[in-house]
Amino acid sequence: MEPDPQGVEISSIARVLCVVGARPNFMKIAPLMRELHGSQRLEPFLVHTGQHYDAAMKESFFRQLDIPEPDEDLGVGSASHAVQTAEIMRRFEPVLDREAPAAVLVVGDVNSTIACALVAAKKGVPVVHVEAGLRSFDRAMPEEVNRVLTDQLSDVLFTTEAGALQNLAREGIDASRVHFVGNVMIDTLMANRRRTSSVEAVLTRSGVESAPPAFGVVTLHRPSNVDDPRVLSRLVSTLRCLSDSLPLLFPVHPRTASRLEAAGLSAEAREACTLLPPLEYLDMLALLENATMVLTDSGGIQEETTALGVPCLTLRENTERPITVTDGTNTIVGTDSQRILACAREVLRSGGKAGRIPELWDGRAAERIVRALESWAAQLGSR
Ligand code: UD1
Repeated sequence: MEPDPQGVEISSIARVLCVVGARPNFMKIAPLMRELHGSQRLEPFLVHTGQHYDAAMKESFFRQLDIPEPDEDLGVGSASHAVQTAEIMRRFEPVLDREAPAAVLVVGDVNSTIACALVAAKKGVPVVHVEAGLRSFDRAMPEEVNRVLTDQLSDVLFTTEAGALQNLAREGIDASRVHFVGNVMIDTLMANRRRTSSVEAVLTRSGVESAPPAFGVVTLHRPSNVDDPRVLSRLVSTLRCLSDSLPLLFPVHPRTASRLEAAGLSAEAREACTLLPPLEYLDMLALLENATMVLTDSGGIQEETTALGVPCLTLRENTERPITVTDGTNTIVGTDSQRILACAREVLRSGGKAGRIPELWDGRAAERIVRALESWAAQLGSR
């Protein structure tokens, strides 16, 4: 076997095919790509499924987070769950056959995650799941279905919070395959906190003339909140009430923009909030870290606000990330107007939950994952 210039045997390098598809995947893959590129034992091959494709939902994240251009872009775009998942699977299979990686690494819980995990598992290619074991116990959430199934298909599972291990054990997944490593999304947050612009600069870029001295940040995109016009209307009215006490900035996801329009709620939403386009990663981070509070239905933002020590009200009935409630700054408030307003006023009065940073959310999760994968690949190679 030929040694390469660094003294590593060429054939001992294992290829890891990494999959991204949607906006919340990009901040998770960024630190993993960096660590994998630095590894002497592993080499990454990046596939973007194209689930998210707009410049604001994709390009800017690759640029700002220094993610290399994907080696393969499947270009699937938007469709129903069935069509989108099936199309990813159809287009992913020949890439997997051609690249013959040692493992397929998937992150998070989006349709791209389950689609590629399923193709790999059926072909006997080991699946690595980063952010395993989170459970909302709400099967009406498409992501919950994706989480349960991806974990069942995975050979190596990396978790972000200690409780995930019990969830996996309950589903019959052996603890020897589970590694508690921390949170790669928080690796990205820590690496980028010092790179943000001022709130004024962010708002100017979005065409807003002056920044309020104190503000709340709103994000909404879950089908359960935005697809039913009655729920969406109730939430918009609630935000309008809250805006009498606290100006609200609302970067609007494309899905939400079309639902507001279809429900005839765009004007009321504009009265309630300063509506912004989807923001680049660093601009969103600038708003989050300077917010008085954040109102959201996003999973990732519950974690980011906990890491930043900013109070978060989650506009859902449950969370798959309970550590953000027990240790962090998160409160689950549901979608009832009175409850949201009471909790928001309490945050304005008291400053909200202080919280503490969860265990192993220290900016080094990707490092731990890549070390664990190097050992795993070495064991596979020696069998
Ligand atoms: C997906 C994920 C969700 C994640 C969210 C983050 C699944 C099941 N859902 O939901 O877990 O929290 O991403 O954004 O995978 N669209 C655009 N431009 C784009 C992408 C989408 O305009 O680049 C619009 C399209 O109208 C599309 C809609 O957004 O139909 C929804 O996109 P889709 O990928 O189906 O799901 P998300 O709601 O973004």
